[in-house]
Amino acid sequence: MARALVVYESVLGDAKRIAMAVAHGLCTRMPVDVACAREAPTQVSADVRLLVVGGPTHTLGMARPAIRGDAVRRHLAVVPDLGFGLHEWLDSVTLPRGIDAAAFDTRLDSPALGTALDPAARTEETLLRRLGATLAAPAEHFLVTDVAGPLAEGEEDRARRWGQALAELVAPHPIPVRG
Ligand SMILES: Cc1cc2nc3c(=O)[nH]c(=O)nc-3n(C[C@H](O)[C@H](O)[C@H](O)COP(=O)(O)O)c2cc1C
Repeated sequence: MARALVVYESVLGDAKRIAMAVAHGLCTRMPVDVACAREAPTQVSADVRLLVVGGPTHTLGMARPAIRGDAVRRHLAVVPDLGFGLHEWLDSVTLPRGIDAAAFDTRLDSPALGTALDPAARTEETLLRRLGATLAAPAEHFLVTDVAGPLAEGEEDRARRWGQALAELVAPHPIPVRG
């Protein structure tokens, strides 16, 4: 059966919560695996039909080693490996031919900051295309209320609905409930 894979990076925990909510929505239609970038497979298996990736917007871009270090110093974030996150995973992974994909980011709820530029998810989409994936839907952006979170009200629900909508695009029939 076709599966979905959600791969995320999260420095302060918010993007992880969004990744889990997206997976919750996806699993109404297809089995889902969720992994942080550091633990995600370097070769995605052929039964993965949909890949969803996402992480935080950091200084108008995806998280990179120096900025992860900043977050650790300023916000006491726990980052096991400053040198490896979603960008580095997308730089090194191999995807099966014909895979669909979608990207999300988390970012500040501030119209002045980056909302017009769509930086983190835009780079994620560029890297996904470079890997040969087809974008199944436009990227989605989930808001935090301050630099160190929390998520704005309703964002996890919105992420769950987005996950379900993505799954409906690539797997039109719900998984039958047994019992
Ligand atoms: C070092 C640093 C730089 C940031 N730069 C931006 C930025 O340029 N634009 C923005 O919208 N949010 C910015 N933020 C806020 C992050 O987007 C927010 O912390 C993140 O989305 C939360 O996700 P996480 O909890 O999974 O790390 C920054 C946060 C940190 C720690």
